[in-house]
Formats: sequence, C-alpha cells, structure tokens
Amino acid sequence: LRRLALLPGVLALSACEGGFQSPLAPAGEQAASIHSLFWLMMAVCGFMYLLVLAGLGIGLLRARRRRSETGEPSINPADRGLTRGLVAWAALIVVGLAVLITGSFLVERTIAGARARDALEVRVTGHQWWWRIQYRDPATGAWIETANELHLPLGQTTRIALGSSDVIHSFWVPNIAQKLDLIPGRINRVDLTPTRAGWFRGQCAEFCGVQHAHMALDVKVDTPEEFARWLASQRRPATPPADPAAARGLQLVTRGQCAMCHAIRGTQAVGRAGPDLTHFGGRRSVAAGTLTMSRGAVQGWITQPQAVKPGTMMPPVALSPADADAVSRYLMDLK
Ligand code: CUA
Repeated sequence: LRRLALLPGVLALSACEGGFQSPLAPAGEQAASIHSLFWLMMAVCGFMYLLVLAGLGIGLLRARRRRSETGEPSINPADRGLTRGLVAWAALIVVGLAVLITGSFLVERTIAGARARDALEVRVTGHQWWWRIQYRDPATGAWIETANELHLPLGQTTRIALGSSDVIHSFWVPNIAQKLDLIPGRINRVDLTPTRAGWFRGQCAEFCGVQHAHMALDVKVDTPEEFARWLASQRRPATPPADPAAARGLQLVTRGQCAMCHAIRGTQAVGRAGPDLTHFGGRRSVAAGTLTMSRGAVQGWITQPQAVKPGTMMPPVALSPADADAVSRYLMDLK
C-alpha cells in the first residue's frame, strides 16, 4: 500500500512537461509524429478498454437479475441479441485495428520520408560505452570528430549514420526522434529535425554490457548561429596552453599513456581507441554523461576510472596529485 501511495508522484514525474528525456515532450518533428501516434493508440485502446469494462459490468448486472428471476445465471445461446452483439464487437475490433495500423504506417512513412536533401551529415559510432561523433564539415567536406555531445541546428534536418565498433547499441534521444539500433557491420540512418532549442538527453537503449546505463549522450539543439559558431570552434585544432600548469598537463598527456588512445588535434596525441579530446573542456559531462564536467570529476575519472565506471576500457592513470591537477587543467582548457 505504501508503494501504491508513491504512484501519484511517479505519474506526476513522468508527466513532467518539458522534460529533457521524454517522448511526451517532443522537441523534434519525428518525435512529434510519434507523440501523436502515442495519443492515437491511447485513445483507441482507452476507448476499447472502457467498452470492455462497461460490457462486463452490464453482463454481471444482467446475470444477477436473471439469477434472481430464474435461479439460473447463464444466458440462452439462441438469443439473437447475443449474436448481434458479438458481430458488432468483432466489427469494432476490426475498425480499431485498422485505425491503429493506418496511423502507425503513416507515422512510419513520415519519419522515414522526412529526408531533406540538404541535411547535415553526421556519423555516430557506438563504443562500449561512449559515442564517437563525426560531422561532415559543410564548408570543406572533411570530417570533424568529437565525442559524447551531439549538437544539432534548430529547424534543420540532421541525418545521422549509425554504426557500431563492437556490439549492438541503440541511439535514442526521445525528445527529438525515434530509437534506432547501431549494429556492427551495417549503417542505419535516422533523421533528426529539432523544433525546440535547449539541452536534451539521449541514452543507449540496447543492453550492451555492464556500463550500458552509463552510456548517455548530451544533446544540445543550437540556433543556426550558435551551431555555426560551435562547428567553427570544433573545426579548429587545440590551442597551445598559456598557463604553465596546463602546459605541464599537455606534456603529460602527449608523452604519457593518454596519447595511445586519445587524439587531440594540433598535438602529438593521435590515438583512435578512445574519445577525441580536442575540445574536451567545452563539453558538459565526462565519461558519456556519467559525471558533470569539473576539475574534480576529470581527475577522479583519469586516476580511478574503474571506481566511476567499473568495466570501462579506460585504464587508470597513475599520476601524482600535482600531475593530476596539471592534466585536468590542461583538459579543461581545451574549449
Ligand atoms: Cu550501448 Cu547500451
């Protein structure tokens, strides 16, 4: 009973308007189509449900009356009203199913057919447990790489090619578009047309190993001007650090083990196994949405990643407190 008492609270939370990870607060054309399909299904199924309950109630009342009149609650199979009722009920089911099938077919066509010709091209590759993100630069055609934070221009369609480097993952930003799997050895495509600016949260939606739950994706819908500025900043290689502590951090990163897995454009770090860190400090979170970006979080993640995300491919890096501070300063300055 005590658990039941929590139910209104849970329902109120799930109905939270403007939620940043909710298919019920659409912020994209594709999610809006799915949202309308959700309400169509809710209406048809809710109507049917009420009809069934009403029929059951009426049947029970009638049976009780018959029993008091004849001592026998069962109905007469030869009753013509019964046959008519069953035929009407079957017809209603057919109509209801036809509405649902038509609705879902139309929504699916809308989502699949929204492919704009001038769509921005992005590649997202799933890794255990983070997201590699590459933008096709509209100016040069070159690929610009980043990780774990997806920026989308408001009102423009972004076509994302989804792939995986290891196991099956699933890309889902519920406010903006449908869910789609990332499957090793093939490319799936999903279009996202955001209609509301702001931060949203995506999450891997296919169990992919022990840290599946910590495979989140920060999504920022920018105005076109903001997006152009952001893309221009991502295009640039990392700026050499001015601060002496950060300069020491740069040395530690490029000469130590970090550079074996991570790339920082403009430095000698060219590893490909882990996320690109060129503009790491400009991101909102660390370790695919696991920790909020801060110097403490960065140091904790680097020195004890297995404590933060047990099973992660990121190995612990043995650093003195002073060195950990220098490395975190350098990384946080990579805006
Ligand atoms: Cu990737 Cu679950």
